Order: sequence, then structure tokens, then C-alpha cells
Amino acid sequence: MNKAIHLVGISGSLRKGSFNTMLLKTAGSLLPDDVTIDIISFADLPVYNGDLDMPARAARPESVKKFREVLEHADGIIIASPEYNYSIPGGLKNAIDWASRGENSPLLGKHVSLMGATQGQWGTVRMQLAFLPVFNTLKMLHINKFEVFVSQAQKKFDADGNLSDNDTREILKKHLEVFHKTIVHQ
Ligand SMILES: Cc1cc2nc3c(=O)[nH]c(=O)nc-3n(C[C@H](O)[C@H](O)[C@H](O)COP(=O)(O)O)c2cc1C
Repeated sequence: MNKAIHLVGISGSLRKGSFNTMLLKTAGSLLPDDVTIDIISFADLPVYNGDLDMPARAARPESVKKFREVLEHADGIIIASPEYNYSIPGGLKNAIDWASRGENSPLLGKHVSLMGATQGQWGTVRMQLAFLPVFNTLKMLHINKFEVFVSQAQKKFDADGNLSDNDTREILKKHLEVFHKTIVHQ
């Protein structure tokens, strides 16, 4: 019997009508039935401050402890994020930084799927490139097969927030299949 897989999903955008949150929810709906996903937010994390983190880790803010704990129990993470000024949005990078410290970082060696949607032409390619050194330093297991770059997102989701563009859906499905297989066969 296959081991049940549990994932955590993070959207890099907090706004209500976020295309990336829509993309993340679509990804969640395309996963096999035995895979569970919890979509979590970094909205309540403070701005990173080393005085609140190491060396007195027990003193980490409650929101940070909870965020790290949820990640710790995940077999993998799906990140769907916009590109801000050609890079990783600050709020998302802040959340990664909070989760990254210490030998017990829940990110170390974790499977990660990265995707992004933008209303521009380049489908978050620069944000995704900016993530590569972050994944590398945290030894995160990133898959780059069937990369999900959603350009002109305003044309690709319907009024209910479903990804209605068939080509993009196909790429997303293939990407998730590879991600799932990678975790199952780890
Ligand atoms: C601060 C900021 C910077 C942005 N920089 C870029 C950028 O570098 N490249 C790009 O394609 N879009 C950029 N955008 C536009 C976003 O792609 C667009 O607003 C997108 O819808 C945001 O994702 P969301 O719908 O998930 O909130 C930027 C938007 C903001 C708010």
C-alpha cells in the first residue's frame, strides 16, 4: 500500500483575488485522492528578527513556531507565487527565512514544487530563478520537469477562480504527477 502523502501549499500573494492562490487551489484539486494538502498563510509572521530567533529558539514567536511545525509534518511543499520586481515577494521570502534556521529546519531536504502566475508575459520565470539558490542552500528537492509558468493569468482563470486554460492545466497535471512520483519513490 502506498504511504499517504501530506503536502503544505503556500501562496506568495495575500490578496483576495490572487491568481497564485487560484493556481495553488487548482493544483490541490488535481492531486491524487490519497494526497492531502493544507494551504497555509504567512500573513501573521512578523518581519524576521534574529533576536527573536537564534540562539534562544524556544522564544520564537508563536506564529513562527506554528508555521515551522506545520511544515515539519509535510512530505512536500507546493509554492505558487507571483514575481515582484523580478524576484521573490518579500512576504514569502520572509516566511522562508523564518523556517530556514537551525539544523532542525523543516525545509532541509524537503520536496518542493514551485509554480507561479503573473499578469505579465514572463510567467514568473525570474522569481523561479531567484528561488534556485534558496533551494540549493537548504538542500530542498526541487523538480524542474514541466515547469509551471502562467503568463497573462487574467486570461487563464474563469470567474470562479478555476484554471480554465487547457494547455496550462495539462502542464500543471504533468508537473504534479512528477512531483507526486518523486515523493513516493524517495
Ligand atoms: C510589488 C509588485 C511588483 C511586481 N513585479 C512584477 C514583476 O517583476 N514581474 C511581473 O510579471 N509582474 C509583476 N507584478 C505584477 C504581478 O504579476 C501581478 O500583480 C499578479 O497578479 C500578482 O499575483 P497575484 O494575482 O497572485 O496577487 C508586480 C506586482 C506587484 C504588486
